[in-house]
Amino acid sequence: MDHRLTLTQHLLREVEEHRPGGGPIAAILAEIATACKEIRAELAEVGLGRLAGMKGDVNVQGEEVHKLDWFANEVFREHFAGSGLLCTLVSEEMEQIFHLDDDCPRAQYTLCYDPMDGSSNLDVDGAVGTIFAIRRKVEGRAHGRPEEVFEPGTEQVAAGYVLYGPQCILVYGVGGDVHGFTLDTAVGEFFLSHPQIRMPERGREYSANLSRLDGWDPGFRRFVDRHSQQGRETTYSLRYIGALVADFHRVLLRGGVFFYPGDPQNPSGKLRLLYEAAPLAFLAEAAGGAATDGRRRILELVPDGLHVRTPLVIGSRHEVDAIEGLLTETPAASMG
Ligand code: AHG
Ligand code: MN
Ligand code: MN
Repeated sequence: MDHRLTLTQHLLREVEEHRPGGGPIAAILAEIATACKEIRAELAEVGLGRLAGMKGDVNVQGEEVHKLDWFANEVFREHFAGSGLLCTLVSEEMEQIFHLDDDCPRAQYTLCYDPMDGSSNLDVDGAVGTIFAIRRKVEGRAHGRPEEVFEPGTEQVAAGYVLYGPQCILVYGVGGDVHGFTLDTAVGEFFLSHPQIRMPERGREYSANLSRLDGWDPGFRRFVDRHSQQGRETTYSLRYIGALVADFHRVLLRGGVFFYPGDPQNPSGKLRLLYEAAPLAFLAEAAGGAATDGRRRILELVPDGLHVRTPLVIGSRHEVDAIEGLLTETPAASMG
């Protein structure tokens, strides 16, 4: 039987090669994988368990908190408090930065994460996920202060996500290629299943919540119209799962583009920079794709708040460029 590479084995090699001396990064990623196995176990029977439905409070985003949003966040806190691996946690589900005082002197890293992405899918058994990014502690910055993470996404040393779908897939990168692992539930281990993922140059699908089309830059409508005419070789299919992780995973593997623009009511859109857009932009670029806010590279944006949002256009270089060409004031670029 050919040897199946476990996530742990792979992490050690990857970090040694791309983040020399970054041993704790491998340990942090391994711990994240364990935390996500715990979350998955709870997800598998959410309808039967005590975690169905809403928790009854509202998070900093002003959104109703699903019990699993809160549970997933607590799993991460339990796994890292006292681990000596992390100094700080930034979570969608925690308004303030969470400083792990006892760990801080030793730990050199900060974790930004969305513990449960796509939670509106939970009660209808739709795909959901967990998104994460590891940043190095900024020397000379006061610890446990939001400013600690007010750095561009290029400062991320690792990023990834876990997609809880029919399978449980973990995808990560530490500055080299992007790799995918599938959970073997009988063994309880993630095994390498998608080595060196490359995003196709262009795709045949676009992904967006088109109910908001009228509020977006007219360039998005031009892109949609040009790619919806039947019979044209540029005709695309629309795919929208409503969970960023699931929509991104499809774009990563099949190419195409996902976009969540801003509109007059929410000029920065809905998606958060630190724990949604920046981690996925890190992966998209490492796999040969692109990620912008419609004009600027996501990885160059510097947050001025833990929960700042950004418009997001992410996917194959061809489609991201095509949309950007339509969004500028110049006449519409040919769609190719
Ligand atoms: P979260 O569940 O972490 O709040 O994220 C939900 C996000 C993202 O997963 C998805 O792409 C987007 O919300 C969908 O928004 P719409 O329902 O407005 O389409
Ligand atoms: Mn999310
Ligand atoms: Mn979330």
